[in-house]
Amino acid sequence: MSIEQQPWGETDAGTSVSIFTLRTPSGLEARITNFGGIVTHLLTPDREGTPGDVVLGHDTLKPYLGRAQSPYFGALIGRHANRIARGRFELDGQTYQLPVNNGPNSLHGGPGGFDQVVWQAEPIDGDEPSVRLTYVSPDGEEGYPGTLTAVVTYTLTTANELRLHYRATTSAPTIVNLTNHSYFNLTGDASRDVLDHELTIAAEAITPIDETLIPTGDFQKVDGTPFDFRTPRKIGERVNDDDEQLRFAGGYDHNFVLAERPRALAHVARLFDSASGRVMDVATTQPGVQFYSGNFLDGSVHGKDGRVYEHRWALCLETQHFPDTPNQPRFPSTVLRPGEVFESTTVYAFSVSSGR
Ligand code: BGC
Repeated sequence: MSIEQQPWGETDAGTSVSIFTLRTPSGLEARITNFGGIVTHLLTPDREGTPGDVVLGHDTLKPYLGRAQSPYFGALIGRHANRIARGRFELDGQTYQLPVNNGPNSLHGGPGGFDQVVWQAEPIDGDEPSVRLTYVSPDGEEGYPGTLTAVVTYTLTTANELRLHYRATTSAPTIVNLTNHSYFNLTGDASRDVLDHELTIAAEAITPIDETLIPTGDFQKVDGTPFDFRTPRKIGERVNDDDEQLRFAGGYDHNFVLAERPRALAHVARLFDSASGRVMDVATTQPGVQFYSGNFLDGSVHGKDGRVYEHRWALCLETQHFPDTPNQPRFPSTVLRPGEVFESTTVYAFSVSSGR
């Protein structure tokens, strides 16, 4: 059997939570809980064949509750990932006010976002084990209109991939932007920063931001800037450059433009850690990816195996629609209407390279 289900405690409201362990013969192992759809562990072999855990997280449920010790580690993010300026948007002539939880802005679906709810879970065993998570978000939850039904399926494939499929439908016009917020450190034991990791992102432009990390609405070419990852570059090489965009975010915390609109699954990024040989390839149907270099990690979070997560000890590659889309007419739309189906796929593929 390649899926095990275990009880994993309960929420403050007394709802039981489960954790699922998925394994493939190729040596990929994921632990996923139906609280927030969080990937708590992701083990994959290094170039010697030794498995190591490549994501940050916790061994127990408690630190995730209320985000007590978790800046969204491994979680599903919704209803609208990333920032919405002043938590306000207009849809069909009506103005909506969301709770503001990040400076002046709304971040990652609000205080009770999808990372803080219990999803209904259905394990599906087979050569490619998966867990299908469903959450029905009531009309008006966290200020968003329409009853939104979200279904997210995590699958481990025989090609050593973690595949995420997202689907959402609504009862009334609304906005939706779903992602996963895994923090990666390919060394396999999260005991140092990721500044030596080499990153490639197939993006010609970013959406530059203001000092509250809200897009200005422009597109900024990456040519000649620290944001040019079209060829592999170490994250640490330019992260501390004297650059206004890096200053606003305290490092990389920017949306990279992959496409003008959603499209067929395309390879968009590669992460390589020469010490372990681990490679992670990212493919997605989404038009953007938020590259966040763990700038807000500061040694205050005590994670798995007694680790304390310090500055830039992990990075996120959050495939998504662009930040603040509801207020940005030039960005591909995140509006979802009754009768329409929102769908997206993101694949994290793991391999090793003998190169240094
Ligand atoms: C955001 C960061 C934020 C992090 C954790 C990322 O998606 O871009 O600014 O600190 O999530 O909340």
